[in-house]
Amino acid sequence: MNIAVFASGNGSNFAAIAEAVKTGKIKASLKALIVDKPKAYVITRAKEYNVPCYVIELKNFNSKKEYEEKIVSILKPLNIDLICLAGYMKICDEVLLNNYPNKIINIHPALLPAFKGAHAILDAYNYGVKVTGVTIHYVNKEIDGGKIIAQEAIMIADEEKIEDLEARIHEVEHNLYVKTINKLLEDYDARIN
Ligand code: GRF
Repeated sequence: MNIAVFASGNGSNFAAIAEAVKTGKIKASLKALIVDKPKAYVITRAKEYNVPCYVIELKNFNSKKEYEEKIVSILKPLNIDLICLAGYMKICDEVLLNNYPNKIINIHPALLPAFKGAHAILDAYNYGVKVTGVTIHYVNKEIDGGKIIAQEAIMIADEEKIEDLEARIHEVEHNLYVKTINKLLEDYDARIN
């Protein structure tokens, strides 16, 4: 099985996946990192793990369609079975969704459908909820809207600092993403063989 990760920023989830592949926790090959931001720190991490990194910037294409066609042209020869979005800050459009139906997943740092969007941890914290968490879901055209695959809840302690909550959420993300990727790959494998 072959996987690809898409990211735009820090890349701690990418590193968790790369480490799990390296240690055999994820039984797959990590074939590519697709990045849309040339200065993203995740690029440095990809070099550390020797994962081929492709920086594809939307501004170099005439349309989102052509941008996604370029990505698909990279992924197709790599026989990618699963695409894992990990802090990828773009909506997936038709070209990607049609080429990889039910094969694109995303991780979100809140219990969807609550707190969609780019500032989920802070939004949940500021709202004052006592329970938040992490969601992994299939990707469709709606932001943070596809079918839920896995969730893990996290209690917010009284007086907890936002930085501490963020750290705990990221730790849960890294474990849950690895576990869920493995489970999906096992399911695909069982269906194919
Ligand atoms: C994570 O919190 C993820 O849930 C969200 O974006 C963040 C990416 O963090 N979609 P990192 O780049 O993996 O460190």
